[in-house]
Amino acid sequence: MKTERITVDAVHPDAAGIARAADVIRRGGLVAFPTETVYGLGGDALDAAAVLRIFEAKGRPSGNPIIVHSADADAARALAGEWPRVADRLADHFWPGPLTLVVWKPATIPDAVTAGGPTVGLRVPSHAVAAALLRESGRPIAAPSANRAMHLSPTLPEHVLKDLDGRIDLLLDGGPTMGGIESTVVDVTVTPPQVLRPGPVSRAMLEDVIGRVELHRRHGGSDADALSSAAGANRAPGMTERHYAPQTPLVCVEQDDAAMVGGLASAGRRVGWLALGAARHSCPAGASLIEMPADAGEYGRRLYAALHALDSAGLDVIVVAMPPESDAFHAIRDRLRRAAGSPSGHP
Ligand code: TXA
Ligand code: MG
Repeated sequence: MKTERITVDAVHPDAAGIARAADVIRRGGLVAFPTETVYGLGGDALDAAAVLRIFEAKGRPSGNPIIVHSADADAARALAGEWPRVADRLADHFWPGPLTLVVWKPATIPDAVTAGGPTVGLRVPSHAVAAALLRESGRPIAAPSANRAMHLSPTLPEHVLKDLDGRIDLLLDGGPTMGGIESTVVDVTVTPPQVLRPGPVSRAMLEDVIGRVELHRRHGGSDADALSSAAGANRAPGMTERHYAPQTPLVCVEQDDAAMVGGLASAGRRVGWLALGAARHSCPAGASLIEMPADAGEYGRRLYAALHALDSAGLDVIVVAMPPESDAFHAIRDRLRRAAGSPSGHP
């Protein structure tokens, strides 16, 4: 299969490109498209064959459910088997945007989407290209991140092609995504609601709107949090696997550690350093340095591009200086721990 690439403006996407992509979706094909978080790999969510093609193209384990994207909150609500009041308040507040709500699944959604599970994740993205594609196709679009399974999520069109060129019908190239970290996934089938995957919408932001919210045990929640719901860990199937990881071994350290990087370099290791703030002056010769910003939003925007760059630099090891433990950096620390191969919450 040859993958077609259409460049569209990220703010005012031209109608012809969107129409072409919408046509591919309606015919059961696969389209990679930018969202405000990362690039998604989309197919018609109500077409089981298209959804199976998504699993195939990604090499995704069949037990991992896929988020369904809609053009607006009304369209999303129509795909829910049950729509609790907290879902309304969260949707009002954070949609369109980087929040996924897990609700009970109706029979109309194919089992392939939910990996046979009883719930479905719903999201209304804010990116103009994603929104236009959803409107024009008239279909809900099932879309995981547009990378091969276990690889890093793509924030640039080049990242998508590196993993999926020749495996999908079309790439809508809208340039870099603006958020960088995948959406927050919140399960609203339980009381209080539970964060299954931390993301750009932090626990504190959620609690400002709906009151108490728990963190899934894997994200630092207490055992009491996890036991308060019958299904426990099984409700976060995607969180059990090695995910969001570069191919190069990666170690996290709590502070910038020039001596450690220097030690590795002088032992003949090709070493990369993801530093927090200015490290140019202390960076040992031969190390590949990327300086990350202190602002969490900006850090998130740049994180995957930085990891992709270090991962393709032919290094033996990447040393990451962890940003501080805080509500704003919670999701970023989660992704960095995963990149190091240790389940989040248990560094
Ligand atoms: O920002 C995002 O969420 C991006 C863009 C494309 O929307 N999508 C994304 O999808 O990151 P994916 O498939 O790479 O990650 C979705 C995560 C997985 O860990 C999956 O297990 C979880 O959400 N998930 C999806 N549906 C679920 C459900 N019904 N119950 C529990 N977890 C679910
Ligand atoms: Mg993913």
